[in-house]
This record gives sequence, structure tokens and C-alpha cells, in this order.
Amino acid sequence: MEWGLQNRLARFVKPNTGHTVMLAADHGYFMGPTRRLENPRATLEPLLPFADAIAVTRGVLRSSVPAIADVPIVLRVSGGVTVLKDDLSDEAITTSMEEALRLNASAVALSVFVGAAHEHQSLVSLAELVDEGEAFGMPVIAITAVGKELEKRDARYLSLACRVSAELGAHLVKTYYCEEFERVVEGCPVPLVVAGGPKLDTDKAVLELCAGAIAKGAVGVDMGRNIWQSDYPVPMIKAIRAIVHEKATAREALQLLEADKKLTSRVVRSVPA
Ligand code: R5P
Repeated sequence: MEWGLQNRLARFVKPNTGHTVMLAADHGYFMGPTRRLENPRATLEPLLPFADAIAVTRGVLRSSVPAIADVPIVLRVSGGVTVLKDDLSDEAITTSMEEALRLNASAVALSVFVGAAHEHQSLVSLAELVDEGEAFGMPVIAITAVGKELEKRDARYLSLACRVSAELGAHLVKTYYCEEFERVVEGCPVPLVVAGGPKLDTDKAVLELCAGAIAKGAVGVDMGRNIWQSDYPVPMIKAIRAIVHEKATAREALQLLEADKKLTSRVVRSVPA
């Protein structure tokens, strides 16, 4: 791997543990003002010290993240469709490599839609982005998106989507946790991080997802709603860090979370759900 690319990756996949806690806040590019991300600056600010990277669009980066923030940026560079459409796969590259370099990004990320109507378009976009990433020393993260078909999140489908992403040159793949997640890891020759998906019912379920993913070989998480839609986002990300970087079990992390909640004020919902 070329020096610049390796150096950028090492900014957020921490060399001391080999793991990463990425904070995903790129939902607005197709979902609009998602609950508790209505004001990205207010949501992100308290979490920045605990994130190994933040995943955002250039719009949120420029408007809502101070340029002095000492946090690596994973720049979302695909888009072009919204939740108002049935088919979310009709994405293209929306942000240039030059812009990613200007914004001092540590990686660029795009969604790939394996099996969807615009599979070909998204896979060719990935391959072209990798060509540019290799030319400029910029890691490329492929996100195995499932659109509205959340039931696609099983080992058979995700193994295919992750492997195809790796074969086309992605340096890191972001996917979902699932039963038999070890099969997805085994079939993917590049590191994997897991998304959280829609908010889970309990804190325990979130921490068990993280612990399971790490135990089965993920290098980390790239999680959004289960952190910033929590009533206690900072204690939640700290508990996740304990699992990812300090080998805490889900149970130990839950104890840390409960203790931390007692010392922290609860986030009051800004607008109705
Ligand atoms: C979709 O908007 C993005 O790929 C998110 O970054 C990804 O789904 C992770 O966020 P969450 O943990 O909320 O699913």
C-alpha cells in the first residue's frame, strides 16, 4: 500500500489497537434532517473527542464541523437520490477527489448497491473511485447499502457484497452485522467495519452487536443512530470504545454505560420523533 494511503488509514484505524470507532453522521444526504441529527453541529460537538473519525458530507463538514477539530474525516462522496424515491440505488459520485483532498479527508466513502437496479452504476463508480484513490493516496470505503430492503442483511448477501467491493479495490468495507458474521469476514480480504442500522431497542443490544462484530473479526464500527439517537450519546460512544479498543465484554461495557449515565445529563429530544 502506498505511503500516503497507509498514513491516512492509520489516522483512524488506530495502530495501537488495530481498531476504530467511526461516528457516522452522513444520513442527511438522502434522509434529510434525521431525528437528533437535525442540528449536526450540536449533535457532533460533544462526540468528537471520542470518535476516531467522523463520516459526513462536505456540506455538513463545512457548515457544522470546526476546521480546528482534531478528528479524521471520512467524506461521503456518493448521493443523488432521496428517501422519497422507491429505488435508493440510483447514486453517482457527487464530490470530486480534488474536493476530498482540499478538505483534508482521511478517506472517501460511497455506497454500493449489489443486486439493486443500479448495481452496475454503483460498482463502476467504486472501481473508478479506487483508481483515483490509488493515484492520490486516498483510501476508499465501500458501504454495502441495502436501500429500504433491510431484510437483505444476512451472511449470504453481505458476503457477496463485501467480496465484490474488495475485489473492485475498496480499501475498507462497511457492512452490517448479521448472524454468522464470521462468514462475511472470512470471505472479505480487506478489513470490515459494521454500521449500526436503525436504533435498536436496548443499550444491551447495541453493545452486544459491537462485541459480536469485534469478536468475529471486524476492525471496528462506523455507527450513527445507535449513538446519537441514544438519550446518552457520550456514555454510549465511550462504552463502545471500551469494547472496540479495550476488549471489554458487552456486559462490562453496559456496566460502564450505566455508571456513566448517572454522571451525565440526558439529551432532551429537540423535535418530536
Ligand atoms: C447511511 O446513511 C450511512 O451509510 C450510515 O453511515 C450508516 O448506515 C451507518 O449509520 P447507522 O449506524 O445509523 O446505520
